[in-house]
Parts: sequence; C-alpha cells; structure tokens
Amino acid sequence: MEKVVSGIRPTGKLHLGNYFGAVKNFIRMQDVYDAFFFIADYHSLTTHPTPGDLHGSVKRVLAEYVAMGLDPDKCTLYMQSDLPQTAELYLFLNMNAYKGELERVSSFKEKAKSHPDNINAGLLTYPVLMAADILLHRGEKVPVGKDQEQHLEMARTFGNRFNRLYNHEYFPEPQAFNYNQALVKVPGLTGVGKMSKSAGEGDSIFMADEADILRKKIMKAVTAVVEGPSEPGSAKPLPIQNLFELMALVCTPDVIRHFEQTYYDGSIRFGDMKKQLADDMEVFIAPFREKINDVIHDDAKLSKIAKTGADKASESANKTIREVREIIGFKKFY
Ligand code: TRP
Repeated sequence: MEKVVSGIRPTGKLHLGNYFGAVKNFIRMQDVYDAFFFIADYHSLTTHPTPGDLHGSVKRVLAEYVAMGLDPDKCTLYMQSDLPQTAELYLFLNMNAYKGELERVSSFKEKAKSHPDNINAGLLTYPVLMAADILLHRGEKVPVGKDQEQHLEMARTFGNRFNRLYNHEYFPEPQAFNYNQALVKVPGLTGVGKMSKSAGEGDSIFMADEADILRKKIMKAVTAVVEGPSEPGSAKPLPIQNLFELMALVCTPDVIRHFEQTYYDGSIRFGDMKKQLADDMEVFIAPFREKINDVIHDDAKLSKIAKTGADKASESANKTIREVREIIGFKKFY
C-alpha cells in the first residue's frame, strides 16, 4: 500500500478552512493508504514556545484532529517528538544539505525578514527536518498545500542526493497529493480572502467556536454596500461572494437559491442572509464542537492514541534508520 505522510503544525485552533482544505482529505486517505499523520512539534520549536504553551497546543491539535475523524485504527497518528529517529535522519540529511540552497527557500527568506532577531539554524534547516519526516517512512504521497511545494521539492532533492551518494535507490520521490485539483478554498469573514488566523479572530470560524460567538462573528461579517441589484449571473462584490461560498458549504440548495434570487432582484436583506448562515453554520459546527470538548478532556483516550501511534510509527522509523545506517556504513563493534 502506498505511503502517505503529512505533518500538522500545532498552531492554534482548527478552523473551517483547515477542515475543508486539509482534514477532510486526510480522513479520506486513511481509508485507502498506509497513512502517517503527525503533529510537528519539533518544527514548532523554531519560534521558542514555553513548555506549557508547547504541550497545550499539541494537545489541542491532537484532540481536534481526532474529533474531526482521524482514526488511530485506520492511520498512524503520532507526535513527531515521540520519534527521535526523526532527529537522527535529520542529522544525516543535514550533511548533504547546502547552506546556499537552504538560504534560497522562500519560507526561510520570509521568516528571516519578519523575525530578524531569531534567524536560527533550525529555521534554515526546516526543509531538512521536513524531508526527514517524510523519508523516515519512505513516504510517497504528501498531502500539503501550495505553500509547501518548495519544501517538498527539497525533500526529493535530499532523498535523491542520498541515493546518488551511496549509489542505492533507497528513498522514493515524494509527490504532492490531493484529491480535488483545486483544493476547496474557504473565504474568511472579513471579506479579504482565504480564511486565515492571521487576518484576526473575527475572520475565522473555528470548529470549536461556541454558538454565541459563532453567531456574533457571522452577523458582523462584512457586506459591502451594494449599489442596486446587478444582472443575474454578473459577478458579486467579493464580501458577498464570500458569504455565498460559505453558504455553499453548510446550507441546503433551496436556501442558497432563495438568496441568489433575492440578491439579483434587489430584495435581499443581508441581515437575513447572515442570520440564515449563522443558523446553518451552528448546525454544522455543533457536533464538532461537542466532540472536541469531549476528546480534549479525555486524557486516558489521548494517552492511548498517542502511545499506539508512537509504537506503530516507531516500527516504520526503526526499520528505515537501521537500513540507512547500514547504507552509510556504520558497523557495530559489539
Ligand atoms: N511544513 C508543514 C507546514 O507548515 C508541516 C510539516 C512538517 C509537514 N513536516 C511535514 C507536512 C512533512 C508534510 C510532510 O504545514
């Protein structure tokens, strides 16, 4: 069975965009692939979280992914830091990763610019650590967004370089992989673009949002002043289009048709439309919120999941590390 590997950064709460853009794909993949999903807690150290913050965010993201439907019986779900084998492969790969190529990586250049006081070596070698994550399981398919393609290209480079150096076709070439060609893009509530945490709390609908907060956020969503009705079929102003796109995710076709019609005949009341969206969104979110709250308070369950995942992932990692050491030429004297 083909191996799928993907890492999840433990940054804050999961939102609707993460759900439709990534998590839903993971849930499908776990049924048909040998899938490894892990919480990338080593990676998160580049920004120096406090011990309490680190554990809290890892726990939240684990609970949220389990609540969304990642099933430890179907996939291997683990914490990156439970696999120190990752660090060993990272060390090996670092020997053949060059400063120049790492400095040219866009994400490095951006981060170096935005945090000039913390350009650490971990940041520079972030793509090497990511390559280690993937190659550790000899992963072939990597479900990631567009922003990760350059990193993935480097994972191929490092794997190939290792193969060539030791004249051994060992690592396969990991490829980006997603089901829907155009990943579902979920717009945010502030009318600017894709739902994003960096656009402020009010932009995102979080999967764990309480009902009243959810309603308030949606009612506050930007609806640009519309100057009279437009021709049926003509493009809607972006904030309005965004609301229709959100409706498409959670409302019935009838409801959507009704608001489409009233939009084009000019009788629409955006307050009513947002109220409807808020009601339907609450119906959609409520079961997720309840599940997240259950799982995050169930330490016994989380502990069992993490342990099972660590054991399964270690088996795969140990095999790779054993073979890599042999290929490199390490021999034991005892
Ligand atoms: N860099 C990825 C991100 O920012 C997270 C990640 C770490 C990852 N290791 C990975 C993704 C390995 C895929 C495979 O989202």
